[in-house]
Amino acid sequence: MTSDTLKTQFRQQAQGALGLYIAFIGVSAGLFSTLHRLQAASAHTLAEAGGLDAGYVARWCDAAYAFGYLEAEGDLFRLGPAGDAMRPEAPDSLMPLAVQSVLSAHMAERAAGLMRSGERPGESVLGERDTILPWFGPMLESNFATLFETTICPAVPVFQQADAQGGLALDLGCGNGWYLRALARHYPRLRGLGLDGFAENVAQARARAQAEGLAARLQFEQGDIHDFTLEEPADLIAMNRALHHVWERGRPEIFRWLRDNLKPGGHAVIWEPVWPAERAQLREPSRRGLSFQNLSEHVQGNHLLQPGEIAQAFQEAGMPAEIHLFAGGNEALIVARR
Ligand SMILES: C[S@@+](CC[C@H](N)C(=O)[O-])C[C@H]1O[C@@H](n2cnc3c(N)ncnc32)[C@H](O)[C@@H]1O
Repeated sequence: MTSDTLKTQFRQQAQGALGLYIAFIGVSAGLFSTLHRLQAASAHTLAEAGGLDAGYVARWCDAAYAFGYLEAEGDLFRLGPAGDAMRPEAPDSLMPLAVQSVLSAHMAERAAGLMRSGERPGESVLGERDTILPWFGPMLESNFATLFETTICPAVPVFQQADAQGGLALDLGCGNGWYLRALARHYPRLRGLGLDGFAENVAQARARAQAEGLAARLQFEQGDIHDFTLEEPADLIAMNRALHHVWERGRPEIFRWLRDNLKPGGHAVIWEPVWPAERAQLREPSRRGLSFQNLSEHVQGNHLLQPGEIAQAFQEAGMPAEIHLFAGGNEALIVARR
């Protein structure tokens, strides 16, 4: 590859990143949604309708026009197809890509600064940016809820079993609570309790359960998985993308806790991205992002896991486990029975 070809390739990639940064501003400040409601508006009207500063909005409109999110006619702007698809409410919204790009920039900057000291500040790094944290839950929901409802739920019978008993499903590290909301919609007798360390996530989880009329069956609490006390044994304990957050600090204790807090015959259902067995597999386009995620997990005191080591940890705690793979082998559900 010549140096000119390399330059062209990297300039295109840099423009791609800029385009996603512009989109993130539009998502976070509600600009795509507000313009959708107004249909067509000047930057000034758009700023007024969104309660935003007119100077910033005028600059954003120019940039969003330059990157093809907005169309313009004189002073009036309207959403183009890409701007419409960035609305968080749009079906199959592109919002997660915009949020992920700015979160990644934040984590890259933190990793760069920590390379020398080796310090690993932990979960708090996710909450360092006021504009990013509120979008963390919706980003994960948008990325994974459809896969869960359409593919995983029908393939894994343990949810139905817990429902038949009118049982309790506990979600440790529940984020914005989308998983329990999905279970409650599909399984009408199931009750849910979600625990998360971030107050923002718990507030969103409660508000969304309330808005969907599920608040009588779903409760959410703020707390730390490492010292949580459950009042009644659960029929099902789920951890979605949360086990790797507690693995390094308390692996044997967590697995004993899962066993001791399940009813006999109850199930632990662990969902984790699959860290590949061979480094060469990271070159595959669908796995490349995982290598970046593992670096940003390191900042948070975590690392990504292989399904086999999770199943092994269950065996050691006296719980037989099965591994189910989804999404071309990139997502694993490890189901263990007490
Ligand atoms: C990658 S997110 C996954 C969120 C959610 N389960 C989902 O699938 O969308 C991991 C979550 O675990 C939570 N978490 C990590 N460590 C925790 C701890 N020790 N106690 C409580 N929550 C924790 C984080 O706040 C975060 O919401």
